[in-house]
Amino acid sequence: MANDAAKSSSAPSHAQPPRGINHMVLNVRNLEASHRFWTDIMGFRCVAELKPIPGRQRPKMRFYSGLDAQGDVTHHDLALAEVPETNGDRSGAPAQWSLMPGRIGLNHVAIAWPDRESWLKQLAFLRSKGVPFLRRVNHGMTHSVYIADPDGHGIEVLYELPREVWASDIDGAQNYAEMLPTEGDEALVDRTENPVFQPSHSQIARPMIHSLSSPESQGNSSVKSVTA
Ligand SMILES: [Fe+2]
Repeated sequence: MANDAAKSSSAPSHAQPPRGINHMVLNVRNLEASHRFWTDIMGFRCVAELKPIPGRQRPKMRFYSGLDAQGDVTHHDLALAEVPETNGDRSGAPAQWSLMPGRIGLNHVAIAWPDRESWLKQLAFLRSKGVPFLRRVNHGMTHSVYIADPDGHGIEVLYELPREVWASDIDGAQNYAEMLPTEGDEALVDRTENPVFQPSHSQIARPMIHSLSSPESQGNSSVKSVTA
């Protein structure tokens, strides 16, 4: 019946845009070590674990979730799958993560915190736990710190800037990168004024600055023009 329905319906001429990325699965060397990192350090909740089924091969795998705006978990944002000990790929130290592509596969995954305040708290927490900041950048659309998990998977710890900052010129916002200190007290300082990107590079001729007027909140923000 389902096949008949599929044959009778005409396929669209183009792909249907997805909602976005639903979840990701990382292959890890040591599930317990990665579990501790992604829960204790990154703050994810473990919501499920694959149970063995007799006569069937299943990966050793756990599922994790952040919290949505209502404080609820999802079925999973992330899963970890342990590479079996019999697999030679488990040996060797993880490579130092770099944004510059060194091998085929995942470059980094970006994890968003709800707002600037929670992001700053998370940076201070990461610092207190001795997690190295490998890179720190104010992009045109996010403020970001890059770290790595125990297997060297790159992780971008970010908060989003308001849509009005980047939506009119995503390409311009993507090409903007302000490199910031990764060590010392300066690594935990975040400014509240951000450039507003407009088409046709108009931000160069007439720069706009978006100000998060309340450091504790992105709700009370304003956009004003400034002289160059
Ligand atoms: Fe990124």
